Amino acid sequence: MSFRENLLCIMDQKNHWGWKFLSGPGLKKSQLLIHFQQEFETYVRDFPLFLARVIGQMGSDTPNQLLREFAENLYEEQTGGISKSVSKGKSHPELFLKMMKGLSFSKKNFQNIKLLPTSLAYRSFIDKVTLIDDWQVSACLLTLFVEGSIQDRQRIQSAYKEKTKIEIKLKEHALIKYYALKSSDADLIKVHHAVEGGHRRSAWETLLPLIPSYLENLVEQRMREALELWLLFRDGVCIEMGLESQDFKDLLSKI
Ligand SMILES: [Fe+2]
Ligand SMILES: [Fe+2]
Repeated sequence: MSFRENLLCIMDQKNHWGWKFLSGPGLKKSQLLIHFQQEFETYVRDFPLFLARVIGQMGSDTPNQLLREFAENLYEEQTGGISKSVSKGKSHPELFLKMMKGLSFSKKNFQNIKLLPTSLAYRSFIDKVTLIDDWQVSACLLTLFVEGSIQDRQRIQSAYKEKTKIEIKLKEHALIKYYALKSSDADLIKVHHAVEGGHRRSAWETLLPLIPSYLENLVEQRMREALELWLLFRDGVCIEMGLESQDFKDLLSKI
């Protein structure tokens, strides 16, 4: 299998049993808060910082298109500069907090968050890779794995077009549908709808072909480690929320 295909197979597995609870109704506000606090502290607040670490290490021989796309990604994540008509110049972490306010969580709820051990493990891994590994490896970790999703295979097909209109996406979004989030507080969802397709294409089409072959094994290894730690991170959050995996229940019932 090709390098690209191996990475796509890893992304196919970025799927967690807790998702069906998080995308459905019936969670208490206190449960939602745990989920969002851990997400914020683990990677949402500092995503621009992680990207800046990568850009800071890119050498002068880095192709211009890649430099530009990463600089644009950072500019957008840290200032909302590209999506200004929607973001009003707010960074993505700030838009996240705006969305939290819309769910009646205060700014204070997002200060001094204590990471669960499994969240700390995933976070420390992102720190270690972005501070120590070659920038090509951390660039893949951030833009392929952290920003990417199980939908990446489908989204990078050349004929792929985002079919769902933002109005429908908003109407169907669990936070709006079940948890009374107002569309006016959902700017983060709108901004991601507008710019994230570009970030996905940049990662798979500009970055990936530029990875030197001697780094391919390490990139694959880091992506596999990321998947394992991400699954544990999600397990930890769900357990703290009091959710239970159906597989785990089935297993217990057989003992
Ligand atoms: Fe973002
Ligand atoms: Fe992004």
